[in-house]
Amino acid sequence: MKRPIFGCGWKMYFKDSEAIEHANILADKISVEENIELYVLPSFTVLREVSKILKDTSISVGAQNMSWNEKGAYTGEVSVLSLKEMDIKYVEIGHSERRKYFAETDKTINKKLKKALEYDLVPVFCIGENANEKNNNLTEEVLTRQIQNALEGIGVNDAKKIIFAYEPVWAIGKSDAANVDYVEVTHKFIRSLLRFNYSSQINDGEEFKLVYGGSVSTENAADLIEKPNIDGIFVGRASLDPNGYFEILNIVKNNSK
Ligand code: PGA
Repeated sequence: MKRPIFGCGWKMYFKDSEAIEHANILADKISVEENIELYVLPSFTVLREVSKILKDTSISVGAQNMSWNEKGAYTGEVSVLSLKEMDIKYVEIGHSERRKYFAETDKTINKKLKKALEYDLVPVFCIGENANEKNNNLTEEVLTRQIQNALEGIGVNDAKKIIFAYEPVWAIGKSDAANVDYVEVTHKFIRSLLRFNYSSQINDGEEFKLVYGGSVSTENAADLIEKPNIDGIFVGRASLDPNGYFEILNIVKNNSK
């Protein structure tokens, strides 16, 4: 059986006191879950506190971004060295909101991925086409560009540590997720692209980790997680309410392949 992944991006939805309250509820109820990979991504300001609260649970804590520089005159940035001091394990890189509002490019994403891997953080690397690109049948072209640029200079062993989060921009923050069959076909494409990229170095049975994000909810999580090429889900709004979180957690546990 595969070990499914259930990750949560808290974005800027919680102020610190709310994030702490939420983390305490998760810590109170969560048991040790060995057969599922769990992480949450709070704001920088509360990372240390949430990390302490969740220390004895199976939920790892990650940042939503980081600098590709370690130190220096980079006002407003956060270094990987600070994340390591806080015992942070994951870092989200290249979310479409960061690409759209904060001018992240494939090139800066490539530098961040390399820095994260150098320091043994698990990158949650986001990719996905926007509505216009989808309507013009450019999904595969966009994904190919995003993946190839971002993985430049990254070897197969590091690529296997990355969680690839397919998040079609048009499905984020909406009432419905992308159609499950569409996601499965797209994941299949991403998987074959990765296998092709690393074809001389990948052995049979070795796999890349692919999760889906974009309006995942208690309604659609089971259908998504059942698909052979969907290794996990990445959830925003539906994970912010503790009841929703625990419901989705059970769905992922009960429907893993
Ligand atoms: P959503 O966000 O679940 O609120 O649509 C998903 C994401 O952006 O990762």
